[in-house]
Amino acid sequence: MENKYYYIETFGCQMNVHESEKLAGILVKMGYAETKERAQAHVIVFNTCCIRDTAEKKIFGNIGELKILKRQDKSRIIVIVGCMTQQEGMAEVIATKFPFVDIILGTSNIHLLEQKIVELEERRHRKRGKIIDIDTNEKPAVNEDTIPYRTSYPNAWVNIMYGCNNFCSYCIVPFVRGRERSRDPEVILEEVQSLVKAGYKEITLLGQNVDSYGSDRNDGVNFYTLLQKIAKIEGKFRLRFMTSHPKDLSEEVIKLIAETPNFCNNIHLPVQAGSDAILKAMNRHYDRERYFYLIDLIKKYMPNCGITSDIMVGFPGETEEDFLDTLDLVEKVRYHNAFTFIYSPRKGTVAAKMEQIPYAIKSERIGRLIALQNKITLEISQEYVGKVMEVLVEDAPKPNMLCGRTDCGRLVNFAGNKELVGQFVNVRIDKNKASALIGEIVNG
Ligand code: SAH
Ligand code: SF4
Ligand code: F3S
Repeated sequence: MENKYYYIETFGCQMNVHESEKLAGILVKMGYAETKERAQAHVIVFNTCCIRDTAEKKIFGNIGELKILKRQDKSRIIVIVGCMTQQEGMAEVIATKFPFVDIILGTSNIHLLEQKIVELEERRHRKRGKIIDIDTNEKPAVNEDTIPYRTSYPNAWVNIMYGCNNFCSYCIVPFVRGRERSRDPEVILEEVQSLVKAGYKEITLLGQNVDSYGSDRNDGVNFYTLLQKIAKIEGKFRLRFMTSHPKDLSEEVIKLIAETPNFCNNIHLPVQAGSDAILKAMNRHYDRERYFYLIDLIKKYMPNCGITSDIMVGFPGETEEDFLDTLDLVEKVRYHNAFTFIYSPRKGTVAAKMEQIPYAIKSERIGRLIALQNKITLEISQEYVGKVMEVLVEDAPKPNMLCGRTDCGRLVNFAGNKELVGQFVNVRIDKNKASALIGEIVNG
């Protein structure tokens, strides 16, 4: 039989990246092979994101481009899944605007992809018709049936929980991903164990707020006890996790990370804003004092910890003074890196109904924030020059060129053979560039 190909394009966060691996797992099991060319694919899947307006616009543009491909080959199956489809009324908007889309699935029923493709093909024999299946249940059952087709070796993503209960006033995630559902700790443990056994060298635990892991279960398990179990797994590997929430991150978790050799000295602790008034309006449930307390604890237990953040500018009501508080916090914390965003109103969220700030002000503020963070990133990078660091080789972007990260999460580029991908090597850092360090392998 002639080869049949699938093409998946992923928008959004790591959660989506991993869910695309699950979609790929289903398609591979059905006999499809991966292609990087849309035009070669029989099944085209877009795994969407709606965190900001920019993400949504980009996806609309991309779906529009599929029209020609569908016209060229009517047997193509076009599938739209992920967060965007789960917004109120959006599945219908997609179906109307893009009549050539065949299947639309929500965030909690992607495991039904095979069944839906089979159903679509049966329907096509009779008459054309698309399939829309969005589960609006806020607490859909956790599905464990799909085996991901992993594409990020030597890293492996592992969900520990789905959904979010926090309702930060700007955020769409709780609306499109439902409430928190924690996976069974034994299932997580088995998955991590088998990944380490299979040769994965980095495990990244995923959840919107990993610190509240277990709060929806009644077996007494929490993030700390889960980490304690993972800490006992034998073998050399790196453990990372995201995202930690400043309202919930605990001293015992910070201490455990510091004490466990396999746990990376790397914490992503999004602050969002540096002003107490804005943090309150964002419904974040912490203030500057609490945030600095955590940063001090992290630095006490792990002086070399790579601390990173997400920061937003232009939230409704943000004054120049509020924004200066954010700059001040960034100066004081000295993040290794920060993802910076312009606040984007999301329909249905509390903040979207507040009085909005003109775009020109937002855009001017983000410029100042980025300039400050770039300066700090560069200064911290400079401290690495001359040091020898252990790097996990993650990829070979060009012939004889490798890249990987330090334990604290810094990206390093260096020369080497691609067979080293997946191995730990010692790299002497020679140069500091804004986004990455440049080094050379020593004795390894
Ligand atoms: N669960 C994570 C974040 C998930 S979304 C956490 O609590 O930190 C990733 C980042 O996108 C957020 O940290 C936030 O900085 C940004 N973000 C979320 N909603 C946004 C919006 N409406 N406009 C701009 N940025 C937003
Ligand atoms: Fe969104 Fe807040 Fe939940 Fe993160 S914790 S996903 S920012 S609501
Ligand atoms: Fe992630 Fe975007 Fe959904 S950031 S959780 S893919 S809205």
